[in-house]
Amino acid sequence: MTDSPFAGKVVLAPLTVGGNLPFRRLCVELGAQVTVGEMAMVRKLLSGSPSEFALLKSHPEESFFGVQLADRKKDSLAEGARIAESRGARFVDLNCGCPIHEITRRGLGASLLRKPTKLGLLVDAMKKAVSVPVTVKLRTGWKEGKENVCEVARICEESGADAITVHARTREQRYNRAADWDVVGRVAAERGIPVIGNGDILTYYEARERMARSGVTSLMLARGALIKPWLFREVRTGEAWEPTGEERVQVLWRLVELLRDHFGEDERGRRRAMRFLPWHMNFFCRYRPLPEERYEESARRHPLLQSRLDGGQAKTPLERLLADTRPETHQRMAEELLGSATAEEALARAQQLAVSLPPDTTERTLDVAATEVAG
Ligand SMILES: Cc1cc2nc3c(=O)[nH]c(=O)nc-3n(C[C@H](O)[C@H](O)[C@H](O)COP(=O)(O)O)c2cc1C
Repeated sequence: MTDSPFAGKVVLAPLTVGGNLPFRRLCVELGAQVTVGEMAMVRKLLSGSPSEFALLKSHPEESFFGVQLADRKKDSLAEGARIAESRGARFVDLNCGCPIHEITRRGLGASLLRKPTKLGLLVDAMKKAVSVPVTVKLRTGWKEGKENVCEVARICEESGADAITVHARTREQRYNRAADWDVVGRVAAERGIPVIGNGDILTYYEARERMARSGVTSLMLARGALIKPWLFREVRTGEAWEPTGEERVQVLWRLVELLRDHFGEDERGRRRAMRFLPWHMNFFCRYRPLPEERYEESARRHPLLQSRLDGGQAKTPLERLLADTRPETHQRMAEELLGSATAEEALARAQQLAVSLPPDTTERTLDVAATEVAG
């Protein structure tokens, strides 16, 4: 198992919108070892939708990139997997976690958890269709009290899955409960293939504690990576990086460079980058330093991503700007960054914007509205 490409890895989660190619590159630069694309609907791939095909595209710097597919039919998934492989995917992942009604009412995403035998046939069909590894992303079950992830994981392995990710909440729980890492541990103890644990990791010390508790060697990061993409490095080195406001602008600037590289520098490229940059700022603004000596004890009892933390201590106007939760601020900041030619100009413009804004009095939490997300 240790020579599996999924053992001992820190993985960037599939993230609809957030897992765009430029952001994935940023995460790779900051330590992500495996990346996954945004969930792609096989039905749309088969009808030739260009926007769905765009989700299969990866960058050479992503050394181990996988495509995530959603469907409920064997033939479609086999074909979807073949298409993904032919476009360079190093592995193909099946989405069995998406809780959104629009998806589950059609029998896709988390609703596959209710039909483990059928799910096994889907995994088998994907395995037979491609030579790259096939993985499955699961939740712990459909409903609280009816968690069946141990059975589902066994069937996935018996059907040929090369690894399994467990997002340690039921479909019904969405994001409302803390991820149950003891369940991750049970699945990992029973399976011979790598199990990747997922849920509520925001700091390296939570990563360390959840890995020790569950026995998994691989982690998948989602909201934590969106809030602080340098979390990969922290988890891998076991050391905190608490960047200053200036350093955080540098991280944002790097994202701007990668967005430009991908979408182009003309007006059309700028418009496309503007679809993503303010969206990312809505996660970036939730960052606050969480030193181990102060938070480790409470993080062991309840994950920091699920806790209502105080607003942090933004000391300078720049730090206040970066913590600002208002959509109009994210829009303005994105315009300033995209209008800059150099990192120095970006910082100077951010500082200017920071002193010109009225104070943000909104109460900040780390919660993510369940309806926003696909997994
Ligand atoms: C914005 C957003 C988009 C997501 N999109 C997907 C997706 O396309 N496919 C998927 O399997 N999970 C998706 N998820 C779920 C994450 O991959 C992950 O399982 C979940 O957020 C739990 O991890 P976390 O507690 O570290 O955030 C999404 C989550 C977020 C926040």
